[in-house]
Amino acid sequence: MNRPASSNPFAAAQPAMTDVTLTRDDMKFIATLVYEQAGIVIREHKEAMTRGRLARRVKALGMNSVAEYCAFLKTPQAAGELPELINAVTTNHTAFFRERHHFDHLRKDVMPRLLQERAGRRGRIRIWSAACSSGEEPYSIAASCRDVVGPRSDLDFKILATDIDTDILTRAEAGIYPAELFERLPSDVKPMLKLEGGAGRGEARISDELRRMIAFKRLNLIEKWPMSGPFDVIFCRNVFIYFDTQTKASILDRFVALLAPGGFLYLGHSESLPQPHPNLRLIGRTIYERTA
Ligand SMILES: C[S@@+](CC[C@H](N)C(=O)[O-])C[C@H]1O[C@@H](n2cnc3c(N)ncnc32)[C@H](O)[C@@H]1O
Repeated sequence: MNRPASSNPFAAAQPAMTDVTLTRDDMKFIATLVYEQAGIVIREHKEAMTRGRLARRVKALGMNSVAEYCAFLKTPQAAGELPELINAVTTNHTAFFRERHHFDHLRKDVMPRLLQERAGRRGRIRIWSAACSSGEEPYSIAASCRDVVGPRSDLDFKILATDIDTDILTRAEAGIYPAELFERLPSDVKPMLKLEGGAGRGEARISDELRRMIAFKRLNLIEKWPMSGPFDVIFCRNVFIYFDTQTKASILDRFVALLAPGGFLYLGHSESLPQPHPNLRLIGRTIYERTA
């Protein structure tokens, strides 16, 4: 929600320049708030980047300084601003078929196995892309599963894609990307994405067929989750890096509880379990299987 400058009691007329100075105390205040709200730890080397991102919010609200923004955040009227703050500080970097080996594993090893072992039971297959950012990950999942799932009308196949950032989810749901993103993809995966033309100049849209396979929802990983599972596959990649050990361990326990026995968890390439988990077995590069 973009608050108009006039509705903000702290707003001055039109600021000529934003003062991005952030005192130690204000930085500490922001870091604590972001940790409480999203579990994200703002490390010291990321402070300059955080200041820049806050400055964008300050400007959007018509304020003069980051200090004024911090003062506003301490007032009861700021509740509606908290999601905007979180949207501003999240890092959304992602890509189609990022860490390609996960999608190859899903398509060649996991999907045939799920179809054989589980589809007969209830015909239900569930995949969760947690922290999906702008959608490249769930669309890559849909593209990897489509050939196996597509012709099977008896299958109840769904991908749930969630993120804390409401702005990025809106972009993910639209499924429209700069065409140049696709041009750089390896020639074997590009056709799998089933692009549609006509999205706009220099843009392409993911086809309806793939978009229909995914439900996008806002979900904060550190809050209560409304789903009861079970999931056959969970992707949670490149978000653990922002959390501390305790937060990671608690989320992992909840993933395991939602994973079907024999289900798979994919973490990001530079991520690992905070400690070995009794119910997870490492079976490939950052690929875990729930054992019991
Ligand atoms: C670097 S992106 C990773 C995207 C994708 N999974 C990938 O690996 O390419 C990290 C995402 O985590 C999301 N995120 C950060 N904190 C979160 C939280 N507490 N709950 C849910 N998502 C969160 C951010 O909004 C961002 O979109």
